[in-house]
Amino acid sequence: MTDTFRLDLETIRERARQHMDEGPVTSTYSADRDTILKLLNDALATELVCTLRYKRHYFMAKGINSEAVADEFAQHAAEEQQHADQLAQRIVQLGGSPDFAPAGLASRAHSEYVEGETLTEMIRENLVAERIAIDTYREIVKYIGDKDPTTRRIFEEILAVEEEHADDMADLLEERA
Ligand SMILES: [Fe+2]
Ligand SMILES: [Fe+2]
Repeated sequence: MTDTFRLDLETIRERARQHMDEGPVTSTYSADRDTILKLLNDALATELVCTLRYKRHYFMAKGINSEAVADEFAQHAAEEQQHADQLAQRIVQLGGSPDFAPAGLASRAHSEYVEGETLTEMIRENLVAERIAIDTYREIVKYIGDKDPTTRRIFEEILAVEEEHADDMADLLEERA
C-alpha cells in the first residue's frame, strides 16, 4: 500500500473563511498563543537590552580609541535591533502587541545590562549575555517544536546570529588575553 498524502482542500477552503479577523492564525495553529506571545515579548526585551548594552559599549570603546572593537560592538547593536524588529513583527502577526515599555525592560529580559568599566569587561559581559541568549533561545526552539514552525524558525535564525556574536566576543577576548 502506498502512503499517499492528500490535502483536504474543501475543508481547508471552508475553514479559511472562518475567523478571518485572526489573520494568519488559523484553526490548525496548535501552539498556546499566550505562551508564544510571552516568549516573543521576553525575547524582545532581551534584544532591546542587548541593543542598549552594545550601543553604550560602542560609544565607550570609541572614546578610548578602540576603533576595531567599537566597530564590532556597533555591528552587533544593529543586529540586535534587527532581531527586536523581527520579534515585534511576529508578535503583531499573531495578534499580540509588542511590549516596548522601558519600565520593566531589564526584568523582562533574559540577559542583564552590565556596563563594564574596561574594554575587556565590556567584551566579557557581552559574551555572557550572548551565552544566556543562546541557552534560552535553544530551549524556546525545543519547546515550540512543530507547534508553530514560523516562530520557531525566527528563533532559530536569531539563535544562529547569537552564536556568531558569542564567537566574535570570544575571539576579541582571546586577542586581549
Ligand atoms: Fe540578538
Ligand atoms: Fe547577540
